[in-house]
Amino acid sequence: MTFRKKTIKTLFQMKQNGQPISMLTAYDYTFASILDAAEIDIILVGDSLSNVFQGNETTLPVTLEEMIYHGKAVMKGVKQAFVVIDLPFGSYQVNDSEALKNAIQLLKNTNAQAVKLEGGQEMTTTITKMVQAGIPVMGHLGLTPQSIHQLGSYELQATSQASKDRLKADATALEQAGCFAIVLEKIPADLATEIATSMSIPVIGIGAGNGCDGQVLVINDLLGLDESFKPKFVRNYLNLNTSILEAVKLYIKDVKKKDFPNSNESY
Ligand code: KIV
Repeated sequence: MTFRKKTIKTLFQMKQNGQPISMLTAYDYTFASILDAAEIDIILVGDSLSNVFQGNETTLPVTLEEMIYHGKAVMKGVKQAFVVIDLPFGSYQVNDSEALKNAIQLLKNTNAQAVKLEGGQEMTTTITKMVQAGIPVMGHLGLTPQSIHQLGSYELQATSQASKDRLKADATALEQAGCFAIVLEKIPADLATEIATSMSIPVIGIGAGNGCDGQVLVINDLLGLDESFKPKFVRNYLNLNTSILEAVKLYIKDVKKKDFPNSNESY
């Protein structure tokens, strides 16, 4: 099958035509190939790899070099999806020229099509510089895990009227600064719907209800790889943790009783 790679134009058209946008994270070649073959619209090389791949408590430790390493692996498996890569914590907050330099490094080294960064009105000059340099930028509002030490917890965001108003102003500012799309994480569904319907760019939700233009999940959560992580907004389509555990136990048993490999599995 010949695939045509999706672009920001494809995503705008999907929003205009009311076609929901599907987005998942991937961190390596194998998963990226499977997601791409399933015809996912957007693959995010998320800084959540800090948690689910590197085993860190937060997304803060992952470096630009590590994002590039995973981005390169993902891109080798992608034929049709639009690929966004996260700017990791510390790579865009110091000043605009460093941020631009790092965004360029991400795209130059991985061949991904866009970067994602967290933050609202305070990020608009940085975003504008990137957009002027030809880099598509996806914004990320609501629960912004890179600010976890300021937020204090991973709980629902934008619950007070003041924080709702702030979020709406942030979303408008990101659109005006030139973001081609925005992720809204863990906010009330009615607020996310209001923002999505008032904006001309696609709004992708995670824990933000069904009124967004698209949905994103961390692939490990969709597959049920971590039994201890079950927030309300995650739907487990598989219980892979248990399946892998059972398969590995069977393998160990077969090795111990000298049943593996058998004659058909030997040369
Ligand atoms: O890093 C990530 O996986 C993300 C998604 C949760 C949107 O930013």
